[in-house]
Amino acid sequence: MIKKGIILAGGIGSRMSPLTKAVNKHLLPIYDKPVFFYPLSVLMLSGIKDILIVVNKGEQHQFKKILPNGKNLGIKITYLEQKNPNGLPDAFLIGEKFIGNENIALILGDNFFYAQSLTKKLRECVKLNKGAAVILHPVKNPSSYGIATVNKKNKIIKIVEKPKKTFSNLAVTGLYFFDNRVVNYSKKLKPSKRNELEIVDLINKYKSNNKLTAHFLGRGGAWLDTGSIKDFYNTSAFVSAIENRQGLKIACLEEIALNNKWINKKNIEMAIKFYGKCNYSQYLSTLTKKSFK
Ligand code: G1P
Repeated sequence: MIKKGIILAGGIGSRMSPLTKAVNKHLLPIYDKPVFFYPLSVLMLSGIKDILIVVNKGEQHQFKKILPNGKNLGIKITYLEQKNPNGLPDAFLIGEKFIGNENIALILGDNFFYAQSLTKKLRECVKLNKGAAVILHPVKNPSSYGIATVNKKNKIIKIVEKPKKTFSNLAVTGLYFFDNRVVNYSKKLKPSKRNELEIVDLINKYKSNNKLTAHFLGRGGAWLDTGSIKDFYNTSAFVSAIENRQGLKIACLEEIALNNKWINKKNIEMAIKFYGKCNYSQYLSTLTKKSFK
C-alpha cells in the first residue's frame, strides 16, 4: 500500500520565461487554479494524505501562502527545497527522511490527468506493495518523453528516455509508484548525458528485476503537461471547456477532501473566507448545499 506522495514542483521553467522569471511555473494558472493543484488533486484522489512538495530554494513561502500545511484539507503537507534541478530521482534523495520505510508515489508538479474512473484506477495503483508501477498513455511526439513498449500481457519490455528513433507511441506519464527500494536505487544512479538523474534508469532497475507493472489511463483519458506556453494554453482551454459545460470543477481540492470525508462543511466555510469573493468560492458554497450531482 502507498500512503505517501511527493510532488516535484522545482525547476526554472525556462521554456516559460519571462513568465517564470518572477513566479514559479507551478504557481501560474491553469484556467482558474494554480498548476500544482492538479497533481495534488491526483494524489488526494488516490487517497494519499501525507504529501511532500519539493520546491526551489527560497520559494517555499510562495506555496505556503496558498497551502500552509494541508490542515485545511485534512492532509499533511511538508515542504522541502531543492538546490539544483538534478533530475526526477533527486526527489527520493531529498525526500529520504520523509519516505522513511514506506512505499512512495511521485507526481510531476506540472502534469495533468483527466479520465473516466480515474479515482478507481489510482486506488488500484496505490495498492502496490512490491515493485514499481507506471501509467502509460499515447502521444504524438514520442521523442519528447520516456517511451515504453508492452507485450500482449501488458508487461513493459522496453523503456527508453526520449528516443531519437520512434519504436512506440506509449509515453511514461509523470505519475510513478515505487516500493521503498527506490531510495537505495536512486543513490546508485549516475547522471545521464544531459547531466541529470533519469527516472527511466530507475524504472529500468525494476524492469530488470521483473517488478514493473504498466497501468493505462485509457483512450478517453487526457494526459496533458504544461511544459510550454502552448501546452499551458491548451490545458487551460481543456479545463475551461469541461468546467463551464458541466458546472463541476476539476481539481477542487476542498471538494475532494470533503468527498473523502477528510474535512467537513465548516472547513468549506473557512475556505470560502480564505479565498474571498471569487468563482472558486462560489463553487465551494454549492458544495455545502449540494442536492443533485
Ligand atoms: C520527464 C521524464 C520522462 C517522462 C516525462 C513526463 O521528462 O524524464 O520520462 O515521460 O517527464 O512528463 P522531462 O520533463 O524531464 O523532459
